[in-house]
Amino acid sequence: MRIFIVHAHPEPNSFNGALTRSARGALSEAGHEVVVSDLYAMGFNPVSDRRNFTTVRDANYYHQQTEEANAAAHDGFAPDIQAEMDKLFWCDALILQFPLWWFGLPAILKGWVDRVFASGGRIYGGGKWYDRSVFSGKRAMCSVTIGGPPPIYSDRGLNGPIGAILFPINHGMLYFVGFTVIEPFLVHAPARISDTERRIFLGRYRERLLGLAHAPTIAYPKLVDFDHSHVLKSA
Ligand SMILES: Cc1cc2nc3c(=O)[nH]c(=O)nc-3n(C[C@H](O)[C@H](O)[C@H](O)COP(=O)(O)O)c2cc1C
Repeated sequence: MRIFIVHAHPEPNSFNGALTRSARGALSEAGHEVVVSDLYAMGFNPVSDRRNFTTVRDANYYHQQTEEANAAAHDGFAPDIQAEMDKLFWCDALILQFPLWWFGLPAILKGWVDRVFASGGRIYGGGKWYDRSVFSGKRAMCSVTIGGPPPIYSDRGLNGPIGAILFPINHGMLYFVGFTVIEPFLVHAPARISDTERRIFLGRYRERLLGLAHAPTIAYPKLVDFDHSHVLKSA
């Protein structure tokens, strides 16, 4: 398989860093091709604006989706965005590696999504979304480190269920552009567990990655399950 890892952590020696190093090693040893976008190391610009484009549709008013449609039609994406799009089209599976920050993605990774997941038909739009999208058939997974322990992210926990917290990413970003979404790989409180426990998590992560093609996925409904108002048809 061809695996694309988007890594978002400012410290190479963090547990996130260890997870990505472990992933690259295990997957390469098993004969998979791996490409990593280490966003901090690349100095990736997460600010979405006119610098996303080499083309201009309307110089007087910036409307991002209008500029995206124009760029899609005229090959007008800036080189840093085009390079990330190329990696998305190349891969069979995408992995987002990040620490949970404020119940969501670190800003550098949110900015990567804002800029790279462009509308106008290149990544989504014009009838391409969810299971009828350009990435249909590809898999994606979040690998997330979380400061708090599991009980606080349980159904009755103070922070609410982790599945609900990751829904905007798993459903609103990955499934929206067509990926089949694998259940996330979660490591809680990596700073508060022992070295032995950390090694166990790294081993489990390697196993998950080597079984990526068959790992359990989130069973989101398909477009055909919804009526013309995009409301689920009654059973
Ligand atoms: C800006 C920021 C926001 C954070 N927000 C959360 C949060 O919403 N929930 C949580 O459990 N931990 C939160 N944390 C803790 C990180 O998730 C935790 O330190 C990280 O996952 C540990 O992995 P690392 O050692 O690789 O950095 C936050 C940390 C920072 C720096």
